Amino acid sequence: MQKELDLLKQKQELALKGGGDKRIESQHKKGKLTARERIHFLMDEGSFEEIGMFVKHRAKDFDMEKQKFYGDGVVTGYGTINGRKVYVYSQDFTVFGGSLSETHAEKICKIMDLAMQNGAPIIGLNDSGGARIQEGVVSLGGYADIFYRNTMASGVIPQLSAIMGPCAGGAVYSPAITDFIMMVENTSYMFVTGPNVVKTVTHEEVTSEDLGGASAHSTKSGVTHFSCANELAAIQNIKDVLSYIPQNCEETTEKIPFEMADETRTKLDEIVPDSPNQPYDMKEVIEEITDKDSFLEVHKDYAENIIVGFSRIGGRSVGIIANQPAVLAGVLDIESSKKGARFVRFCDAFNIPILTLVDVPGFLPGTDQEWNGIITNGAKLLYAFAEATVPQVTVITRKAYGGAYDVMSSKHIGADLNFAWPKAEIAVMGAKGAAEIIFRRDIKDAENPEHVLQAKTDEYAEKFANPYGAAARGFIDEVIVPSTTRTKLIKAFDMLENKVKNLPRKKHGNIPM
Ligand code: HXC
Repeated sequence: MQKELDLLKQKQELALKGGGDKRIESQHKKGKLTARERIHFLMDEGSFEEIGMFVKHRAKDFDMEKQKFYGDGVVTGYGTINGRKVYVYSQDFTVFGGSLSETHAEKICKIMDLAMQNGAPIIGLNDSGGARIQEGVVSLGGYADIFYRNTMASGVIPQLSAIMGPCAGGAVYSPAITDFIMMVENTSYMFVTGPNVVKTVTHEEVTSEDLGGASAHSTKSGVTHFSCANELAAIQNIKDVLSYIPQNCEETTEKIPFEMADETRTKLDEIVPDSPNQPYDMKEVIEEITDKDSFLEVHKDYAENIIVGFSRIGGRSVGIIANQPAVLAGVLDIESSKKGARFVRFCDAFNIPILTLVDVPGFLPGTDQEWNGIITNGAKLLYAFAEATVPQVTVITRKAYGGAYDVMSSKHIGADLNFAWPKAEIAVMGAKGAAEIIFRRDIKDAENPEHVLQAKTDEYAEKFANPYGAAARGFIDEVIVPSTTRTKLIKAFDMLENKVKNLPRKKHGNIPM
């Protein structure tokens, strides 16, 4: 037996070295960790169990028979993060640049199947030169097998992708289907075609970083949800996101023990300025109403006119969608609608209650918006809220104008409780704009048009720029003192804890994509 044990140990030691010391050193020189080091930092100490350590590729062309490495460029297995079971795959760049062969794909698929069958999150740590060039179509088939599983797992188990090196070609579509992408600044990139192809086709000169680095995707395209300063920050980011979300679509996130105390937050009475045109920072509102230091912002640097993120209120995990009056007056445009819609759908898929904070002057006008499809994209947000069956609570802090009032989780499209602050203006449009339209003739014919416009604006504002018309019809359940908002929300989400709502039987809806 000793002989066999020694042989096993010898093979294990070889497997742990991946592509060998020289390539590990080169990986470190690039400021990157190895696949195994990443797993070490990600999982609870000693919890990782590897599956498929001795898998080797089956390729024969291009002398590949002579170049075989245990594991074939990906470390796969399961373990725990803060005591919760997760499945993980971590691509090993030291073996054929982490490229995806037939067997490499099989290992990932096996771990995805286990994650699905056992209802636990799957985490992918991506660092790969793409399809294993020496294998041809079997590698492409391997990618498609993964994409198919990503799609089947969507909405069933949470899927998180960290991009920690190259991710190019069709390979980007696996992370793209997953729920959240974390990119590491300066050492990772994602693009469908790299700078060389771009130059040939469009004659643009662009670096990998500018084309598909963390900065480009966290600010311009919105492809990545989190831009992380380094690999350890990305790994911590994965753990943080996991803490707000359940294991699968059948479960809810565990509530952290919470004792109600004095939850009055007087600062909230002062945040909204007297002038309706003066901006304020909705993040200050979020900080006051959520549990201390619990807000984790998603898509922080993309479409900043809407804020989305996870938080806790009274120990309970909630998803927050909020207009940001400090950026573009909080207007809804194409990007912010898409950003909001995707986040609402994630929360709904995984039983995370939704809090919506509203201060919105409407949809952004203009040819750019219309020609690029604000109609279709705005409808995504409307559809996502309307389709959601989780508890939904809405607070209108100031403006709720026009179609944007309907869209931002209004009572009419399914919110359970709708609150408004006393300064709320719930109307078809702002008072001045309304007066200019409906009293156009009076203003034009007046001796002093300015005076008449002001008088008519005041008249419209008094009638409609308040929450009481909506409250009289029950569209608003209660007009609340801002400083009591946190208390009201804790009670509201407790009250809605056992909400059951079923959608009509259907194959699936047809969201305006
Ligand atoms: C096989 C690969 C490989 C690949 C890299 N390697 N990519 N082996 N298939 N796709 C190997 C290299 O030969 C090298 O082997 C080792 O990995 C490290 O690569 P380097 O080039 O030395 O590293 P670096 O300078 O950091 O550059 C990394 C890289 C570059 C930018 C990823 O290697 C590269 O451009 N690779 C090709 C990328 C590519 O075109 N892939 C196909 C995309 S199309 P040794 O033995 O020297 O260590 C695609 C289609 C998917 O993926 C479609 C899915 C639907």
